[in-house]
Formats: sequence, C-alpha cells, structure tokens
Amino acid sequence: MDISEEEFVTHVMRHLFKARGIDLSGYAQSFVMRSIKKRLGRSGASDHSGYLRLLKHSEEETNELLGVLSINVTEFFRDRGAFEGFSAQVLRPLIAAKLSEGGVLRIWSAGCATGQETYTIAICVAEEVRRLGGICTPVVGIQGTDLSSKAVAKAKSGLYSKAETKGLSEKLLNHYFEKKGDMYEVVQPLRKGVRFTVENLLEPPSGRYYDAIVCRNVMIYFSRKMHDVVTQHLFEALRNGGYLMLGRTETLMGAPRTSFDVVDLENRILRKK
Ligand SMILES: C[S@@+](CC[C@H](N)C(=O)[O-])C[C@H]1O[C@@H](n2cnc3c(N)ncnc32)[C@H](O)[C@@H]1O
Repeated sequence: MDISEEEFVTHVMRHLFKARGIDLSGYAQSFVMRSIKKRLGRSGASDHSGYLRLLKHSEEETNELLGVLSINVTEFFRDRGAFEGFSAQVLRPLIAAKLSEGGVLRIWSAGCATGQETYTIAICVAEEVRRLGGICTPVVGIQGTDLSSKAVAKAKSGLYSKAETKGLSEKLLNHYFEKKGDMYEVVQPLRKGVRFTVENLLEPPSGRYYDAIVCRNVMIYFSRKMHDVVTQHLFEALRNGGYLMLGRTETLMGAPRTSFDVVDLENRILRKK
C-alpha cells in the first residue's frame, strides 16, 4: 500500500532538509503540496513511494523539485534600491581603492540562480566606471555560483528572453545586451570579467579574499543550523574590511555576526571588521 499524502510531504521535506539544508517548514503547506504533486505528475513515478525513491537517488529530480518550488526565482536589479546602495557604498570606495592601489576587484555573487544578479553587479561596476569618466578601469573578477547546475548553465549562456530582462531600463538593455532573434545576449565586454561555477554554500568556499560578497534571498531557505554554516563560509571567504550584502528580509545569525559592522541596515550591507 502507498504512503499517505501527509507522510509523503513530510518525507519529501525531510529529504530536502537533509540533502540540501533547505527548510520548507515555514512555507504554506498547500503551496509545498501543489509543487510536489506537479513534479510527481511529470516525473513518471507511479505513486508516492516511487517518487520518494526517485528523489533520493536523483540529484536531477531534487533540482527539478527545487525549480517548481520557485527557489531559482530571480531578476535583474532585484530591489533596485539595494543595488543603488551597493553601488554608492560598496563599489564606489572599492573601485577608488583599486584604481589607486592596484589589484583585482573580486566580487562573489553567492546563490546567483540563473545569473541575473551576477550580471547586475557587473553592470553596476561598469556604470560606476562610466561615472568616473571611463578612462581608468580596475581589473574585475566577478564569480557567480549556485547549487543548481541547470541554473548555472543558463547563467553561462548569458541569454535571456524579453520577459527575463524585466528590471532593466531600455538604456541598460540597449547598452549591455545584443538582440539575438527573440533573445537578449549579454555583451562580451561585460562577460569578460564574469565566471560561473556550481558550488554548494554548505561546503567550504573555493574562493577567498573577496572584496565583496552578494548573497541575497538564499539564506531564507536554510534552517537555523545551516544558516550558521553558510554565515561561517561567507565570513571565511571575505577579506578583512570586505563587504557583505544580504537580501532585504535577511539577517546574519551565528557567531561571526559580531565581526561585522552595519553599513546600511535597510539594504542589509555589512562590513567585515
Ligand atoms: C531565490 S534564488 C536567489 C537568486 C538571487 N540571489 C536573487 O536574489 O535574485 C536562491 C538560489 O539559491 C540557490 N541555493 C539554494 N541552496 C543552495 C546551496 N546550498 N548552495 C548554493 N546555492 C543554493 C538556489 O539554487 C537558488 O538559485
């Protein structure tokens, strides 16, 4: 006999918690149920138990499920005000320092989904350089990472539909994108300093000494314990004096939070002491 619907949802949530540290207990259960049923229908599994077996053995199915739970939702300039704050309070001083002292401006877009956040950061850097007259440009290295290989592949392609360019003004769209059929492709000069890789934030970071880390709307999915683990990893990856920007509704928890000063509370910009 197949397991009940209630048991099924509990098992699926337990799997996402154990395998990915994602805690869905704060979500509306009707939404979680609808999303899981959508995947159950599309996966080819015959019943609840069959779907659970598939989920436990397939990374791909776990990614698909996270996809329908909208965990990859993103857009260019998500929270415009936050990126204005980021440009003024983080990029401006960092670019000035790199131009006078030299060295690569290193930024990590952690949990970048399909890349819109990472390219937004690249556009903000380019716009700041333009504001300065565009004569001197620091060497820039922006690293976008996400757990979902599908999301990272899309980010690498740099191709977005008209609907996906939501958040970009006509001016920025014309300046930083080229029309390719009915898609828009990020222009080469902007892509030059941007790299994307698959990386799990629950594991020690592969990069170190970042000048700034943008990790927005990722922490909200983690349990308290996982939140602390990720905070520790972000702390380790940031150089002293480096900046961290979280999502508007996110706060830093865990031991390293006392090692940060608040730069801009509204835009959740912190600075490592
Ligand atoms: C809602 S999106 C946020 C995207 C972007 N930062 C923004 O604010 O628009 C959350 C992203 O976090 C990623 N994610 C979830 N758990 C992760 C983990 N353990 N390691 C890395 N990325 C993770 C998801 O794959 C998803 O793409």
